[in-house]
Amino acid sequence: MREPSIERVLFTAEQVDQRIREVAAQICADYAGRELKLVGVLKGSVFFLTALARELSVPARVDFLGISSFANQKGAPGLVRIAKDLDDSIEGEDILLVEDIVDTGFTTRYLLQHLAGRGPNSLAICTLLDRTSRRIVQVPVNYRCFDIPDRFVVGFGLDYRQLYRNLKYIAVLNMEPPAEEA
Ligand code: IMP
Ligand code: MG
Repeated sequence: MREPSIERVLFTAEQVDQRIREVAAQICADYAGRELKLVGVLKGSVFFLTALARELSVPARVDFLGISSFANQKGAPGLVRIAKDLDDSIEGEDILLVEDIVDTGFTTRYLLQHLAGRGPNSLAICTLLDRTSRRIVQVPVNYRCFDIPDRFVVGFGLDYRQLYRNLKYIAVLNMEPPAEEA
C-alpha cells in the first residue's frame, strides 16, 4: 500500500502565525495583570505552545504533560493515561491547557479532569485546531485558532506516525489509496 501524501495546504505558515498573534492578543487582554501557566501536551502541542508563548506579553510559566491514548478491548477510542506528569504544582495558579487539536474531546476532557483535581485558581483551554464536527464529549474550548473540516491533517506539531510535526504549515494528508489500487 502507498504511504499517504500531502494533498493540499490548509493553512500557510503566514496564516498560522497571523492567527496565533491574534489569539495571543486575546489571551493577553483576558489575563492582564495576572501570571499564566501554559500546560502543553507532549508531543503535539509543543510547536503551538512555543509559538504562542513567544507572542504573550503577560508573565508565563511553562510545564508539560505526556499522555498515551489507546483503544479499549472493543476497539473504541477514548482511553487516556498520563505517561509523564507535570513537574510542578498548579495549585492556586491560572492554567491554560494548550492543545494541538480537540477532536472527539476525550483527551481534553480527561486532561481537564486531571488538572481540575489539582486545585488551580482557573483552568482554560487553548487549541490550535478544533474539529467540532467530530465532537463526542463536550469540552469548553476558550481559545481556538482554526475550526477544521473532517480530514486528517499534519504539520505544526500534528503527526502521522511521528512524521510531519515540523512543517511550518498545516496540510491535509491524503489517506486514500490511489484509484488503481482501491
Ligand atoms: P481526541 O479525539 O479529541 O481525544 O484527540 C486525540 C488526539 O488525536 C489529538 O491530541 C491528536 O494527537 C490526535 N489527532 C486527532 N485528529 C488528528 C489529525 O487530524 N491529525 C493528527 N493527529 C490527530
Ligand atoms: Mg498524536
